[in-house]
Amino acid sequence: MARKKISIVGAGNVGATAAHWAASKELGDIVLIDIVEGLPQGKGLDLMEASPVEGYDCNIVGANDYVAAANSDIFIIPAGVARKPGMSRDDLININTKIVADCAKKAAECSPNAVLIIVSNPLDAMCYVALKASGFPPNRVVGMSGILDSSRFKTFIAMELGCSVKDVSTFVLGGHGDDMVPLPSYTTAGGIPIRQLLPEEKIQAMVQRARSGGAEIVNLLKTGSAFYAPSASAVQMAEAILKDKKRILPCAAYLQGEYGYSGVFTSVPVMLGANGVEKIFEVELNEDEKALFAKSVQSVRNLIAVTGM
Ligand code: 2OP
Repeated sequence: MARKKISIVGAGNVGATAAHWAASKELGDIVLIDIVEGLPQGKGLDLMEASPVEGYDCNIVGANDYVAAANSDIFIIPAGVARKPGMSRDDLININTKIVADCAKKAAECSPNAVLIIVSNPLDAMCYVALKASGFPPNRVVGMSGILDSSRFKTFIAMELGCSVKDVSTFVLGGHGDDMVPLPSYTTAGGIPIRQLLPEEKIQAMVQRARSGGAEIVNLLKTGSAFYAPSASAVQMAEAILKDKKRILPCAAYLQGEYGYSGVFTSVPVMLGANGVEKIFEVELNEDEKALFAKSVQSVRNLIAVTGM
């Protein structure tokens, strides 16, 4: 069986670390693309030279164009500008719209059957840009947001309970922005509802910390944004698709009537398999959760309007 091919556009921190996770999981051959001469080639070769130590059999090449990326199974696209302290993800919209549109169009031209995993911010609006620029069906354009936001929420819960991160289950709905909607009502540890384990006040503090989890890292790093957790999340999605695992994960998907919304990307629980987003799950929400979700979806719509796509 031929190896799968994963192309990653953007060889900065997120892209290069995604290549690292993907190689260590031996998901397939990897093409790292960036406009900066030498950067993807250097990082690609460096990762390749780590393979005898780590024992992964993957070809990893860097390139400044899309020739080597032809017929990729997956494109992971973190290309674009990252936040600096004081900036919101939304401040990046004009510059990243141009970059993501160009990347998605070129990815679609060289790999007409690929699934695009978008990581650039503002995430949900960039998924919309990629959908329009690629001309792909909505099941093959999906955004990395909910896994990262849920992973942050899970981390804080596990820290608070002093339990294994493996035992915490949750998902976050909505746009990858300040008004995302972590859902304590769908959060468990070892199958036990979180509200039976922690007081509401502690839970709400963790909800807020998850919402501003990206900014917390930006403020610490000062020169860029988070990359270990974002890249690990994107690679979890790639693995689910490449291995047709049918995982149920929160991802930014294009809604066409689900939850009463259409024409917008937002994080919802989906099934990820060989065809990309194979199913969108509609969960029951109480009135408060519905209102928070509506607000978050409206924020995404406002951003999509700014892209002009
Ligand atoms: C984050 O939440 C960069 O949006 C990304 O860290």
